[in-house]
Amino acid sequence: MSDQNQNSSEIHGVVGYYSDVDGIMNASRKIRDAGYKKWDAYTPFPVHGIDEAMGTKPTILPWIVLGMGLTGLCVGLGLQWFTNAYDYKFLISGKPTWSLPANIPVTFEVIILFSAYTAFFGMLALNKLPHLSNPLHKLERFKRVTDDKFAICVESKDPNFDLARVSKLLGVGSEHVETCPIDTTKAALPIWFHGVAAILTCASFIPLALAFKGRFATSEKPQYHVWPDMDFQRKRKTQTAWEGFPDGRAMRLPVAGTVATGELRDDFELYHGVAQGTAVPASVRYDAALFGSAAGADRPEWLAGFPAAVVVDEPFLERGRARYGIYCAVCHGNQGNGVGAVALRAENLDAAKWGWVPPKALHSDNAKAYSNGELFHIASNGISTMAGYSAQVPAKDRWAIVAYIRAIQATQALDPSAAPQDVEFQPVPTIDSVRVSDSGADGE
Ligand code: HEC
Repeated sequence: MSDQNQNSSEIHGVVGYYSDVDGIMNASRKIRDAGYKKWDAYTPFPVHGIDEAMGTKPTILPWIVLGMGLTGLCVGLGLQWFTNAYDYKFLISGKPTWSLPANIPVTFEVIILFSAYTAFFGMLALNKLPHLSNPLHKLERFKRVTDDKFAICVESKDPNFDLARVSKLLGVGSEHVETCPIDTTKAALPIWFHGVAAILTCASFIPLALAFKGRFATSEKPQYHVWPDMDFQRKRKTQTAWEGFPDGRAMRLPVAGTVATGELRDDFELYHGVAQGTAVPASVRYDAALFGSAAGADRPEWLAGFPAAVVVDEPFLERGRARYGIYCAVCHGNQGNGVGAVALRAENLDAAKWGWVPPKALHSDNAKAYSNGELFHIASNGISTMAGYSAQVPAKDRWAIVAYIRAIQATQALDPSAAPQDVEFQPVPTIDSVRVSDSGADGE
């Protein structure tokens, strides 16, 4: 024992050193039983059971994490409910605005976020970290606790602290006991530290300032590429100039007289809806009912039936029903009455005042007067304000749609008087029957 003459107000604590686990365990139990509170054990590796020997209570961190996890649950669910179902209702594909399964991924992430940060920062806070200096670090002998020695330090802050008694308690089974003086070095940070911190703080604003400038300044110079990736390649892009070809254009026309694989399309019936070898029309005469019968010399030889390449049977019609449901029903409605979801929405918004043209009913006399070839042409290339669907729907599927439209026309136009007596006849709604603009209502 040394330094016994020191006053207890000048010392940080008393340190006892032990050479093995048993030594420190025994000493810990003694200190615990003597009722000391401000003390700690320092070991080079985790010692099982030492928390029990020291009388350390289990940490409350898991409960805090649980609490914050539950908070995350409420915040995650609440946020989604507030944004999607309350403050800004947004209907997506007719799904409910509020439904638990859809909200689980985000809720899960928020729970993880809250509890992970709580676990990390809570651990630091409960351990009073970061702890930048400790008077024990000044002791030469104490350094051995990171290698092969075990130490206990009872601090003088402990209300029961009594130098002689603590020294005696720690002395049992110990290799050495010494007092640890309080740290008298200045707590203030060195002046250079302030300087460097100030410079770094100022420098940290530079990227922000550059980003801010980038939003307003214009420059002729190309952007600086830190990692060029594959941005610059020895190739010509579409619609660019290149002096390598005599005409100065990088793009080439297809070689004359060649056709890309699968692009031949020499089946006029299948691809154009007209008789083989006849002129391929650019558009359909709009009012079929008016002009349909007026077969002039320039009237295309539209196909009345179906191309030889397709077989009209039940699967074909079913295919047509599905394709129609995907591509046409949004506007023309499932029953072909022109009251699709888009048409309804447009009526609700009174979109006609912006020039909205409602989709037509497909079982009208006019639509019935089109030949199959004309219907196919409309499905492919559109008509008037309606766009064509040849880019999305392959030719055979467009024919399937035509077959399905014929089926709609046959079923939806049944004469009410032909319906069985005991069946209540329900007229198919028309777009006029859902129109709101006349009633003076303005949208929702
Ligand atoms: C985005 C809405 C929309 C979709 C989708 C749509 N159409 Fe149309 N369709 C219209 C509109 C609008 C008109 C009327 C165009 C006009 O009068 O300017 C029209 C007109 C037609 C006509 C002419 C009817 C007549 O009496 O002259 C046919 C036939 C037709 N569509 C078939 C189809 C088929 C087949 C599909 C699916 C491949 C389809 N439409 C998809 C909006 C649509």
